[in-house]
Order: sequence, then C-alpha cells, then structure tokens
Amino acid sequence: MKDVLSVRNWRYATKKFDADKKASQEEIDQLLEAIRLSASSYGLQPYQVYLIETPEIRQELQPHSWNQSQITQASHLLVFASCTDFDDQLIDNYLDQISEVRGIEKEQLEGYGNFMKQTLGPWPADRKADWCARQAYIALGNGLQAAAELGLDTCPIEGFVPAEYNRILKLDEKRLTACVVMAVGYRSEEDANQHLKKVRNPKDDFITSI
Ligand SMILES: Cc1cc2nc3c(=O)[nH]c(=O)nc-3n(C[C@H](O)[C@H](O)[C@H](O)COP(=O)(O)O)c2cc1C
Repeated sequence: MKDVLSVRNWRYATKKFDADKKASQEEIDQLLEAIRLSASSYGLQPYQVYLIETPEIRQELQPHSWNQSQITQASHLLVFASCTDFDDQLIDNYLDQISEVRGIEKEQLEGYGNFMKQTLGPWPADRKADWCARQAYIALGNGLQAAAELGLDTCPIEGFVPAEYNRILKLDEKRLTACVVMAVGYRSEEDANQHLKKVRNPKDDFITSI
C-alpha cells in the first residue's frame, strides 16, 4: 500500500524559515504548476496566484501580516488572490479555453455555459466572492501538499490585512482580493514547532460511518 501519511506528518506550519536556504526555480515552477492543476468548481478557477519576488514588497507586506517573520524570511511568498465578483465573461473565457484546448466547437458548449450562467449569475456579489475564495483555498491545500512532496516547507497564512495587501498589490483594480498567503522555503533548525505532535480531533469525533 502506498504511504500517503508520512509526508503529511512531515509537513507543519513553519514559523521560522531558514532565510539562507532558497528553493530552486525548478521546484517553484513545479509547485506553481501543481497549484495551477488544482480542481475548482466547474473548472472556473476564479482566482490567481501572485508570486512576490521583490524583497521590498515583502517588507512592505510584513507589517500588515501581524509582523510574521515568514513573510520576509521564507524563500518564496505566494498570495492567492480570488475574484471579488464576476459576470458571464468569466464563463465565456473558460468556454473559449475549453474550445481551444479540446478542439470543441463553441456551439457544443452552449448548454454547459448557459447552465453555469443561470446557476452562478443570479448570486449576489458577496456570495460570488465567498465562493471564489473557497476555490482558492482548495488551491492552497493542494499547494501545501505539493510543496511537502517536493520537500519544501510552507506556512499557510491568514493573519494579514486583505485591504492593505489589495492596496500594495493593486488587486482592487483587477476585481481581486488577497484571500490567503503561502510562505514557502526551508524550515530553520531552530523552529521548535517542527517537533510538536499534531493536534487533531479524535477519529471517532471526526469520522461518521453510517
Ligand atoms: C487557512 C490557514 C491560515 C493560517 N494562518 C496562519 C498564520 O497566519 N500564521 C501562522 O503561523 N499559522 C497559520 N496557520 C497554520 C495553522 O495554525 C496550522 O496549520 C494548524 O495549527 C495545524 O498545525 P500544522 O499545520 O503544523 O499541522 C494557518 C493555517 C491555515 C490552514
């Protein structure tokens, strides 16, 4: 039987990164590709990923991130930016992609497109924004796992002020909002958290078999 648990037990939310150890471009490329391959509802992928490479921007983000050291000390920083709203254009763009990638006539996709438009279109903007954020969290989870498979440490980060991130990264004008952050790199030997036992709900409380 394949062992899927050891890498999940190895992964932990890294508090202190080794600032001198950098992930290679190849590793980051693989990680980004793994994230791009994430599942999303209908396949609409209503979010983008910002790879923050500029050290000055990371320094600017840090005070708006509870001053967490991971923001500047990790090798790489990803910001998942989800759509704050969308209209039929999001769906039409996706249909264009399907048509091109799979070589299907657009007319054949009309029914699927209308179904998506009729289902998602009437939602109020806040429900749409919430749904988009949920899709981005799936990508985050996938990214955490992919990183661990590559031997990269991560910290998922919600402890930041989205409005400040949106201002610094100019996300508002793209109808995006910073939704969740992922710091990536290598754990510091001094990070005591790596030795902590995992705290999870007991199986009997967590899993209901019926
Ligand atoms: C969406 C999300 C947001 C989180 N935000 C932070 C954060 O801002 N800072 C931090 O140090 N840890 C953060 N964590 C890490 C959690 O505290 C950690 O995953 C949890 O305690 C379980 O520990 P483990 O991941 O080490 O197994 C976050 C985790 C998730 C999934």
